[in-house]
Amino acid sequence: MKAPVENEKTLNRDRHLSINEWEEEAKSAMEKKAYDYIARGSGEEATLQANRKSFSKYRISHRVLRDVSRIDTSINMFGKRISSPVMLAPIGVQTIAHPEGELAAARAASSMNTPFVVSTVSSYSMEEISKQMGSSMRWFQLYYSGNEQVAESMIKRAESSGYTAIVLTVDTPIMGFRESDHINKYSPVGEGAGSGNYFSDPAFCSLLEKPIIEDQAAALKKQYELFENPALTWESILKIRQYTDLPVLLKGVVHPDDAQLALKYGVDGLIVSNHGGRQLDHGVATLDVLEEICGVVQNEIPVLLDSGIRRGSDIFKALALGASGVLLGRPYIYGLAMDGEEGVKRVVQQISKEFETTMALAGTAHIAEINKTYLVKNNPEV
Ligand code: FNR
Repeated sequence: MKAPVENEKTLNRDRHLSINEWEEEAKSAMEKKAYDYIARGSGEEATLQANRKSFSKYRISHRVLRDVSRIDTSINMFGKRISSPVMLAPIGVQTIAHPEGELAAARAASSMNTPFVVSTVSSYSMEEISKQMGSSMRWFQLYYSGNEQVAESMIKRAESSGYTAIVLTVDTPIMGFRESDHINKYSPVGEGAGSGNYFSDPAFCSLLEKPIIEDQAAALKKQYELFENPALTWESILKIRQYTDLPVLLKGVVHPDDAQLALKYGVDGLIVSNHGGRQLDHGVATLDVLEEICGVVQNEIPVLLDSGIRRGSDIFKALALGASGVLLGRPYIYGLAMDGEEGVKRVVQQISKEFETTMALAGTAHIAEINKTYLVKNNPEV
């Protein structure tokens, strides 16, 4: 990639940038294949586009003459107070955007009291990332390994290095077909950018015939073999429970019947997600299923949403339809690509500020006041 230091020089730090502009800046600064890997979706990108379009189906009907001189955006998450309902989604291979990758994102998250969900395929190990975060909230996203010992080891490492929840991603039994990566012949995981947690894992290393330093290609091949786990079922939740007492969230649920099953299996939280349109193409947009899922869950556990959040008003709409909070995906990676830790901070602060403005203008001073009565669905013809 072009050196991020160069990006930092060209970036005017005083100028306000919308999320779309951050993307444009990152696009022109990054190598095409890295930008495509981050920005693009699977198949013909129907789901990627649907994610954005679904937010435009609603308008906000504001209330007037309410005291909005103080806006409180804070929420409770598993007994902890966090300053806003925005979290950082698990995104792997972050060194393709910036050499400091997840370390910079972790520092930014920690400085803002924003929870960070760290990916299984992070460029740095979960322990190295954890060290950047003090006591700030972080969760570990698990791709449940095809090898049970590796799965167990990663879960236990997460608990002992200060992660306070396990986020099991369930929409990736196999990788989605991302055409641009095939055209570009690009696989950052295949190039070793997603090995932080594998190469530091004793259970993983014990499966290798030679030390990684002697045969990195074989280690990467093994990582790839263990990464996809198409045989994974609901029983995996019971196994996670044997390894840790941490709360378990499922990421990638979009069907109300799966929300029902999640309750049956005692899951502690749901993330309604379609992986930002990178997995099942022509899959449903997350906002379109959120209300029904929240109807099933009936506030028993938190329901978070991601995929397509680009504006403060998107956060408001998700909360109005029942979400407890949202995860921001690609946008913070564009900030990372342009300006490392500072870029992540600016992106998150900007969308949080937009959200605060939306709350004030809608006439809501507290998160608990946001509900469906503030939304009007557009005429579908419009
Ligand atoms: C992801 N996402 C993801 N999800 C996950 O559970 N584990 C992972 O390692 C990754 N890695 C990853 C890499 C890249 C480059 C992207 C863009 C996304 C999905 C991510 O957590 C989240 O669901 C989406 O990014 C949300 O959609 P938006 O906000 O990017 O539209």
